[in-house]
Amino acid sequence: MCGIVGYIGDKEAAPILLENLKKLEYRGYDSAGLAVYNRDKIEVRKAEGRISRLEEILKGEEPKGSAGIGHTRWATHGRPSDINAHPHADCSGEFVVVHNGIIENYLELKEWLESRGHTFRSETDTEVLPHLVEEFYKGNSSNGGFELAVREAIGRAEGSFAVAIMSQREPDRIIVARKNSPLIIGLGDGENFFASDIPALLAWTKKVIVLDDGEMAILTRDGVRVSTFDGDLVTKDILDIKWGPGLIEKGGYEHFMLKEIHEEPRAIRDTLAGRINGRTGEVTLEEFELDADYIRQLKKISIVACGTAYHAGLVGKRVIEKLARVPVEVELASEFRYSDPMVGPDVLTIVISQSGETADTLAGLREAKARGSRVLAITNVVGSSVAREADDVIYTWAGPEIAVASTKAYVAQLVSLYLFGIYLGRRTGTLNASDSKRLVEEIRQLPQHVDMLFGRHEERVRDFAKEFAGCEDVFFIGRGLDYAVSMEGSLKLKEVSYIRAEAYAAGELKHGTLALIIRGVPVFALATQLDVYEKMLSNIKEVKARDATVIALAFEGDETIGKLVDYVIHIPRVDSLLTPVLSVVPLQLFAYYAAVARGCDVDKPRNLAKSVTVE
Ligand code: G6P
Repeated sequence: MCGIVGYIGDKEAAPILLENLKKLEYRGYDSAGLAVYNRDKIEVRKAEGRISRLEEILKGEEPKGSAGIGHTRWATHGRPSDINAHPHADCSGEFVVVHNGIIENYLELKEWLESRGHTFRSETDTEVLPHLVEEFYKGNSSNGGFELAVREAIGRAEGSFAVAIMSQREPDRIIVARKNSPLIIGLGDGENFFASDIPALLAWTKKVIVLDDGEMAILTRDGVRVSTFDGDLVTKDILDIKWGPGLIEKGGYEHFMLKEIHEEPRAIRDTLAGRINGRTGEVTLEEFELDADYIRQLKKISIVACGTAYHAGLVGKRVIEKLARVPVEVELASEFRYSDPMVGPDVLTIVISQSGETADTLAGLREAKARGSRVLAITNVVGSSVAREADDVIYTWAGPEIAVASTKAYVAQLVSLYLFGIYLGRRTGTLNASDSKRLVEEIRQLPQHVDMLFGRHEERVRDFAKEFAGCEDVFFIGRGLDYAVSMEGSLKLKEVSYIRAEAYAAGELKHGTLALIIRGVPVFALATQLDVYEKMLSNIKEVKARDATVIALAFEGDETIGKLVDYVIHIPRVDSLLTPVLSVVPLQLFAYYAAVARGCDVDKPRNLAKSVTVE
């Protein structure tokens, strides 16, 4: 996730671009850059680091000019560096581009462009765009050629993008286009703006146009012309934004946590992007390859992580064991390191970390490496310590997570573990092509299922949360993967609302804490694992017999469970292996709304840090 901005008018562009970029820093902050049309050429300035660093570098030397584009980066393809920072240009420096999103077919396009003589400077996927425009502009440089070249270029790009392009020969226009990444145009008087998000525009104008997927626009000082990628003109509604300043970086949400829960469908899509072969349904993890000899000698997988990432690991264990039939152990990183762990060359260690900087996880990674184990990192931050020190990396593309309690990163970790499980299962021979294809198809449907959960259940969950916000104890029970998700649901509630919560393997209640289940205690009972469904019903009866208030999570069409419990939240019917991605959503929302009802500081809970860099 990155942020892009632009300005064309009669004021100096650079200070406006910098100001507006700062409002988008939540979208990424590992490097920043801008391009301004300065007299007869486009001047590009960019640097690794936060926007404030770029500002310092430019102090007193901002490029002069009244049209420009800017970018704040959250590295995806290519580590954070001066070269990989945006804007990017073609060979001649004539076309300059900023981009938010992922060009999935960039390798193919890059090869083609290189065969036609283009030279690339960065490791980014974005750089194919200015080169494509350059390529299509050749022989098309008459009037309107810039626009035609852009149309042709974006027509070739697959994936997601919000993109802005300037041409040295056409200083009085900026072209923007959108597919699957947000882009908002701000309308001024004799000046126009654009940005990835409304907050970056509000200091200048309240009148905005929201571009839809498949639309592009040409911004000049006096107007904005919107058309489809095919060139048909589109008449857009002009919206009048009435937000107060508090809601600004949160994109209209009251808290980052809620915003990030709502970003889960996008996090899933981005994490899948480019990793599934659309034709065969096979998973391709271009980042690494486990060869046949390595897999043959592989005795065990050891997953090491903390907090929410550890809970993702618990799901990963079941998934990998089921699909690839390789034994998996999951250890808390803080325990692993001092446990004289049994890992070596025949064990693959997977470390999972949103931030990639958690000291315990990093120490676990080093311990595993020191014992000769190959280490695969699943992390959300490009260039983080964990990413740099691991042998291989699978990035989760959840985008920056600001709220301390992890939500969208957890979901993206689950998706990465599914991809890994399928990848390994195909190579150990335990997952056949048709089962893999079916599973992949179901995974691709998950984003729309999550969207549907928001639509159908968010208000109800908010009501439950208000009703139970005064409770002292809440229980979460489930079997198999439902138990793993119960642990995450319980952690989320404790982290943000400070309500004591306990997750229990449903079959284990009777061996332990059943005495704590008394009249009115809320129990979330997850019943999505069909192989243990009947057993789960028995466990639900056990808690109902003690007068607990039971909220069940079950598949749509399950008529039985409603007769046993007080409330049911139905989730779409998917393969039981995939339910964690769906069942965790109501639990995250419950934790969020319970915390709000109790007046807690949701995004910065007491005594917790987003990234704990001490052991
Ligand atoms: C901290 C955070 C948790 C997080 C854990 C692991 O304790 O408060 O929310 O799950 O660290 O973080 P990581 O960045 O390694 O995933």
